[in-house]
This record gives sequence, structure tokens and C-alpha cells, in this order.
Amino acid sequence: MSHILHRSLRGVLPLAASGRGIRVIDNAGREYLDASGGAAVSCLGHNHPDVMRAMHEQIDRIAYAHTSFFSTAVAEELADHLVAHAPKNISHVYLVSGGSEAIEAALKLARQYFVEIGEPQRRHFIARRQSYHGNTLGALAVGGNEWRRRQFAPLLIDVEHVAPCYEYRDRRPDETPEAYGARLAAEFDETVERLGGRNVIAFCAETVVGATAGALVPVPGYLRRVRDICGRHGILYIADEVMCGMGRTGSLHAVEQEAVAPDLIAIAKGLGGGYQPIGGVLIGERIVGAIERGTGFFQHGHTYIGHPVACAAALAVQKVIERDDLLAAVRRRGAALRALLGAALGNHPHVGDIRGRGLFMGLELVADRESKQPFDPALRLHARIKTAAMARGLMVYPMGGTIDGRRGDHVLLAPPFIVGEPEIEEIVSRLAAALDAAIAGVGALDRQSTETES
Ligand SMILES: Cc1ncc(COP(=O)(O)O)c(C=O)c1O
Repeated sequence: MSHILHRSLRGVLPLAASGRGIRVIDNAGREYLDASGGAAVSCLGHNHPDVMRAMHEQIDRIAYAHTSFFSTAVAEELADHLVAHAPKNISHVYLVSGGSEAIEAALKLARQYFVEIGEPQRRHFIARRQSYHGNTLGALAVGGNEWRRRQFAPLLIDVEHVAPCYEYRDRRPDETPEAYGARLAAEFDETVERLGGRNVIAFCAETVVGATAGALVPVPGYLRRVRDICGRHGILYIADEVMCGMGRTGSLHAVEQEAVAPDLIAIAKGLGGGYQPIGGVLIGERIVGAIERGTGFFQHGHTYIGHPVACAAALAVQKVIERDDLLAAVRRRGAALRALLGAALGNHPHVGDIRGRGLFMGLELVADRESKQPFDPALRLHARIKTAAMARGLMVYPMGGTIDGRRGDHVLLAPPFIVGEPEIEEIVSRLAAALDAAIAGVGALDRQSTETES
């Protein structure tokens, strides 16, 4: 019996024993193709020699130094690298241990900025339904997934949620993508007006929505319009790129492809590629300047911020991405993945939408393609797909509640940037088999329940 409080108290997990490239091997010797990088984390795959070496070297120098006593050369070099590769307005980074911590820090930085500049009345955050920003209370509050929020709702700060940019379901047939984006921006504008522009702290959004909606890409111009509205009211723009950032979509930051410059960018997963727990907030000069001219102190902190071994891992991951030109590889291999998914599943009767960017792809599953009717949530199709995929030696990241936190199923793919073309073919073929097996399973259940009812 395990003494770990696992995510689920039902079922037994295999033990991951080793990793090599895009494969994870369990203690029974079974190999799994890691087509999701865990949860879009392992961007360099497993056991990358350059990253392992950098971590060993840092451990041999010093493994830990508290940031109220010391900075470290490795943390400074990582910060230099991140700022040098960030949008121009970014001047600093705050280094934490994961995505939720990055979001918490971003929310507090945004609030403190307005206190510093004499606008303490600003208290509202605006975020989007169906988004995921993490599981700590602040991050959960800005998140828009109803199921995740529900039982903790009494503990959450008040956040206004506007519509997600969900073209497959919400763009009207008579609307162009641009007009749809303009409609969403108008809704955002109305929300700002209702709250009072000078009462809003920040807008927080995943540039490409990941875990809770399956690689939802913004329509052209939408984020630009929202950014302009924020600008008119002095509202800060927080881009949550914990999942979609650090190269996953083919540019280091997903916002680069939207031509918007956020005030704060939260990064994590692909920053350290899973070799160490690390996240960060890239911070605009305007915010750092206000704190510098004001109290000179960000009122925040954790024991492990700027952890030297985590910084060494992240620096090594980022250097490999640059040295091996992996952003171009993501674009190339992403195009190959998209083409193969289209060829294998584009006409599948239960695949409603194939979407995403770079090596960040989502498939939305439907009971009926014509009406876009989802599967009955009680069937838990997403969980069955995960089980069927694991049984075929494939790791993908399926989730339910795609549409509204309850209905809808999708599968997220986020393979390591080093994935090869033959491996992409293998991923698509195993995924197609897993989908068919899972859907056949729910079909059998459906037939059983109809027979019992009749
Ligand atoms: C967009 C986004 N933000 C924040 C988080 C939270 O990150 P963590 O799980 O590292 O706390 C996640 C995790 O999946 C995420 O996808």
C-alpha cells in the first residue's frame, strides 16, 4: 500500500523507473512514448545529457543559498538570458518554483504596482472562463474552470470572467474570425466599463489555452484589441504562458505571434523542462520602475525562489533550445504533427476539431460532428482515452469539461521538441487506436444502458 496521497485514491499507478529521449520506462520495463511531455513540461525529453551535466556541476558548487542572503551566478545568468530573449518592455524576472507560484507572484506584483503609484482603489482582476491558472487560491480564483473552482468558491477572491476565445464552438457561421475577436473584445470593454476602468488591476489570460480547453488558439487581432482596451484604462496585462510558453508554440513566447507586449508573463513548465521545479514572472520595466521609485521592495517571497539547481537546469534547457535551433524544429515538427493528425483523424466521426500551434495540439471529441454534441460526461471518455493510450504505451493529456467545466472531452498533445518524424507517426497511430478503443468502450456502455432501460 502506498502512503502517498496520490491525485486519485483509486487505482494503482505504474512506477516511472527511467527515461530516455521521448520515452519513459516503468519498473516492469514497459516503454511509453511521451507525447504530452507529462503536462506539456518535458520539452527536451528525459535525461538530456547537457541538462544533467549542468545540474551535477551546480550541485557540486552549491545546491542552495537563501535569496535574502545571496544571489548566485547561475540565477543571474538565467535572468540575463530570459530578459535578453523576452519582449522589449521586460526588464526583470522573479524566479519561483512552478506555475501557480508564478501566477500568485504576478497577481501580487500587479496589485502592489498600483499601490506604489497611488491607485490603491484598483482591486478587480478580469480573466476568462475555461482558463486554468493553477491550483493555489489566487491562481484558482483567476482560473475559469467551474468544476475546479466550485468546492473552493467561498475561499476565492472575486474575479470577473469573460468569454474564452473558442472559435470552434462560439464563432457564428456568419462571422469572420476577426469579427468574432472584435465581439469578444467588445464584451471585455463592457466588463471594464461596468467595473470602472480605474478599479481594474489586470487582465489575465493564457495566450493559447491548454489544460482545460485543449489548445485554444486566439483568433487574429483579438488579444491586440484587448491589450489596447487595457492600455486605455491603465490596466495591466498578465499573459499566462506557463503551459504554452518557452517555445511550445514555435516562438519562445506565444504572445510574439500575437504582436502584443504583456506587462507580466508567467512561465514555468518548459522553462526547466521538468528537470527541476522552476517558474518565473517576466516583469515589465514600468512595474519594476514603480517599485524602485516607491518602497523598493516586492512584498512577497518563498524559501526556494531562485533555487540554484533549478536555475542551472533551466539555463541549460534554454541554452540547448537556442543552440539546437529547437524553435524552428517545433514549427517544422508541429506542422508534421498537424498534417498527420489531419490525415489520420480529420474525417473521424468523433473528432470535431483539431487545433493548436507548434507542438501544442488539441483534439476535441464529439458524439456527433454535425451538431457538435459532446459525449455524455458520465461516460468519462477522456479518462478512458488516457487508459487506452497508456495500455498502448502512449502518454497523452486528455481532459473533460472542455466546453463549460462539465461537458466536452479533449486530448492535448505536447511532445518534446526533440521528437522525430517516425516517432510522430507512431504517436498518431497509437492515438488513433486508443481513441477507437475508448469510443468503442463508451458505445458498448451506451448500448447496455439502452437495453437495460428498454
Ligand atoms: C496555463 C497554466 N497556468 C498555471 C499552471 C499551474 O502550474 P503548476 O501546476 O506548476 O502550479 C498550469 C498548470 O498546468 C497551467 O497550465
